[in-house]
Amino acid sequence: AMERTFSIIKPDATRRNLTGAVTKKLEDAGLSVVASRRVKLTEAQAKKFYEVHAERPFYNDLVSFMTSGPVVVQVLEGENAIAKNREVMGATNPADADAGTIRAEFAESIDANSVHGSDSAENAQIEIAQFFTEDEIVG
Ligand code: CMP
Repeated sequence: AMERTFSIIKPDATRRNLTGAVTKKLEDAGLSVVASRRVKLTEAQAKKFYEVHAERPFYNDLVSFMTSGPVVVQVLEGENAIAKNREVMGATNPADADAGTIRAEFAESIDANSVHGSDSAENAQIEIAQFFTEDEIVG
């Protein structure tokens, strides 16, 4: 089915000028960028976005990393976009990511892992709504 998912190009990738290279990987996988904006997340935005991880030991480091520089928030659209995006991102830990995936090619560490992607349709909807209104998404 046609789906939308939410993607973040993280500060490690924007810092190394990899916005285009990451986006090309997404597009080559058949995903279309139907909304995109470069922003510097506030601490409040990052905390809210990663609320589900609030009790995890890596939460504070995650929030401080995600506010350490600009990110690019995007809505991706395509057939099975959620699974397709997860496939092209590769495993969360770049050490476990399959060759050719974004994280295998670009990620520096499990924290500086270049991209975030929604893990379910429900979360995709929640995450998209945190950054975009429906009129900003042009399919
Ligand atoms: P992301 O998909 O953005 O969701 C949460 C992030 O926490 C994850 O990518 C990683 O960058 C980061 N993280 C750090 N340590 C861990 C861990 N042990 N398990 C899962 N995610 C982690």
